[in-house]
Amino acid sequence: MQLTRTHTCGEIRAEHVGTTVTLAGWVNSRRDLGGLIFLDLRDRDGLVQLVVDPEAEPDVAATCRPVRDEWVVAVTGVIRLRPEEMINSRIDTGEIEVSLTALVVENRSKPMPYHVGDNKAGEDIRLKYRYLDMRRTSLGGHLRLRHRISMIVRNYFDHSGFIEVETPILSKSTPEGARDYLIPSRIFPGQFFALPQAPQQYKQILMVGGVERYFQIAHCFRDEDLRADRQPEFTQVDVEMSFINEEDIYTLIEGLIAVIWREVKDIEIKTPFPRLSYDEALGRYGSDKPDTRFDMCLQDISGLVANSEFKVFQAVHAAGGRVMAMNARGTAAGASRKKIDQWGETARMMKAKGLITIKIEENGVKSPISKFLDEAEIGAIVEACDGTVGDTLLIVADTFHIATQALGRLRLEIADELGLIPADEDHFLWVHKFPLLDYDDVEGRHVPMHHPFTSPVDADRDKLREDPSSVRARAYDIVLNGVEIGGGSIRIHDTDLQQTMFDVLGIPADEAKARFGHLLDALAYGAPPHGGLALGFDRLVMLLTGATSIRDVIAFPKTTKSSCLLTNSPSDVDSSQLDELGLAIKPSVD
Ligand code: AMO
Ligand code: AMP
Repeated sequence: MQLTRTHTCGEIRAEHVGTTVTLAGWVNSRRDLGGLIFLDLRDRDGLVQLVVDPEAEPDVAATCRPVRDEWVVAVTGVIRLRPEEMINSRIDTGEIEVSLTALVVENRSKPMPYHVGDNKAGEDIRLKYRYLDMRRTSLGGHLRLRHRISMIVRNYFDHSGFIEVETPILSKSTPEGARDYLIPSRIFPGQFFALPQAPQQYKQILMVGGVERYFQIAHCFRDEDLRADRQPEFTQVDVEMSFINEEDIYTLIEGLIAVIWREVKDIEIKTPFPRLSYDEALGRYGSDKPDTRFDMCLQDISGLVANSEFKVFQAVHAAGGRVMAMNARGTAAGASRKKIDQWGETARMMKAKGLITIKIEENGVKSPISKFLDEAEIGAIVEACDGTVGDTLLIVADTFHIATQALGRLRLEIADELGLIPADEDHFLWVHKFPLLDYDDVEGRHVPMHHPFTSPVDADRDKLREDPSSVRARAYDIVLNGVEIGGGSIRIHDTDLQQTMFDVLGIPADEAKARFGHLLDALAYGAPPHGGLALGFDRLVMLLTGATSIRDVIAFPKTTKSSCLLTNSPSDVDSSQLDELGLAIKPSVD
C-alpha cells in the first residue's frame, strides 16, 4: 500500500477536525495502553499525536504493535479534538489527534545508540550520530534559522547593488594569521595549493577588476587551535567595496544587522553602534572585544601611586607600565582566601605577575599591601574606584596590555559568577583605531595585527619605517556581547605603500613577489581605493540562537581536535594515491 503525504505533522490544527489526512515521518514515542495505542509522529514541521483503537482497527493495531522509536511510518487518519483533559498546550498541535485508519511501515530503525533528544548527551556521540541529533534536538531548528539568515544576507546585498562572486577553494596561501591547510598538486609534484583562510586577496583583485561591490557567503579554512567559537572550516559573510571609507562600511553592516534582528528577533536595533578605540576598549574593559552589557570598568590609577613606597609600583612606573584597578562590587564578604587565590591564578594565566586585592570592610580596608601604602594613597584608590563597604578592589601593575587584559579576564569571570550579565540584551559596538602592527617577541619582528593589506591611518603613514609600533590602522572589528563577530579594514591600494609594508614586516622583496606578486601586480594597474569586512557567519548565528558553541549551528562540525567523528576523518589514504602525488609519509613527525 502506498500512502502519499497530504499534510505535515506540524501544520494540523483544530480547524482541520473531521478532515482525513495522510502524514509521514518518524515515530517520536509510542505508548501502548492496551485499550488504545498512542504514537507521536514527527516530521520537519512538528509533532502530532496519533491514536489507534484496536477494536475499531484491528489490522492497523497489529501493524502498529511492533513499531518502535524512530521507525519511519506513513499513516492515514481522521483529525479529531482531544478530550479536554488530554490537551497539551506545549505543542502547536496539542488540541487535536489523528485517529488512524491505515499505517505503513516505510522503514525500521535500530534501537537508538544513546538517549537521543537530549541536548546534553555527550558531544562525541552526538557528533558521530549527527543525523539523529539533527532530527531530535535544537540542531534542526538552528539549521533552518541559519538558512533564513543567509537568505536575508543575500537579499540585503543584492538590493544594495552587490554581486556574489565565488572565489577559488584551491588557492594560494593567504596570511590571515593561522596555519594553512595544504593540497598537494598531482600535476606539479612537490607543489601545493592552500585552502583559503579567507578570500582576502581575491576580493581585492575583484576591486581592481572593477566589480566595486562584492559579497560572498564564503567557506574559510584555518588550521589553528580550536575553541567554542572557532572551527577549522567556517563561514564568513565576506564583503568588499570600492571608493568608500570606514563610514560606508559601518553604515552598510549596521543596516544588515538591523534587518537580521528585525526579521529574526522582531527587535529594532539602535544604530549607529557605539565606537571605542582599541586603547579605550582595553583601558575601560580590558579587552579588544568588550562585553558592554555590564559596567565593572577598569581605572588607571598609575598617577595615584606614582610615588608609592611599594616596590612593585615603583618598578612598573620606572618601566613605563600602568597600575590598573577594578572594583569587584559587593564581593568583599565572599572573597575568601581561596577565592582570592583563584583570581590570582587567572591574573597569572594572563601573564600578570600577581594580583593585589583591597577589601573594603566596616572597620577599614584589608590588603596585603596596606603596610606599603599610606592612608592618602589608599583613600585615593578607593575614591577612584568608587569603592564602598563590601567591595573588593583588584589591582594589577604591569605593561598596559598585560594589566588591562588580566583585569579584563577577571571582569568576565566575576561578572559571570555574580550573574551580572543580562542574557536577553544585545550590545553591539565597533572597535577601531587598532595598532597596525604587533611585535612578535618570538620571531623578533613586527607582524600585522589584522593582515598585511590593511592601510595605515593617513596621519601615521610617515612613521611606518621609523616608529612602526605607533602606527594606527584603518581597521575595525564589530563586537557583539563580547564576541568578535567581524573585522575588516580599508586596504592599501598603492604598490609602493604595500611594498613598504612588506619591508617593515621583514618580508624580503623576492619573497613578497613569490607570495603576493599577483596582488602587487594588480595594484599597479589602477587599483581603486577599497575596503571591506568579513562577518563570522557561524558566530552570528550562534549568538542569534543562544547556542554556546558554533558547533551547534554547523551541520557537520569538527571536534576540538579538528577531526570529524561522523566520517572518521582525517583518515589514511592508499599508498597509490600518495605515489601519484609524489608524497611519502615520514615514519614519525615528532
Ligand atoms: P578575520 O580573520 O578577522 O578577517 O575574520 C573575520 C571573522 O571571521 C570569524 N572567524 C572565525 N569563525 C569561526 N572559526 C574561526 N576559526 C574563525 N576565524 C575567524 C570571526 C572574525 O571576526 N579577510 C579578513 C576580513 C577583511 O579584512 O575583510 C578576515 O578574514 O568572527
Ligand atoms: P610580593 O611583594 O611579590 O610578595 O607581592 C605582594 C603582592 O603583590 C602579592 O599579592 C602579589 O600577588 C602582588 N603582586 C606582585 N606583583 C604584582 C603586579 N605586577 N601587579 C599586581 N600585583 C602584584
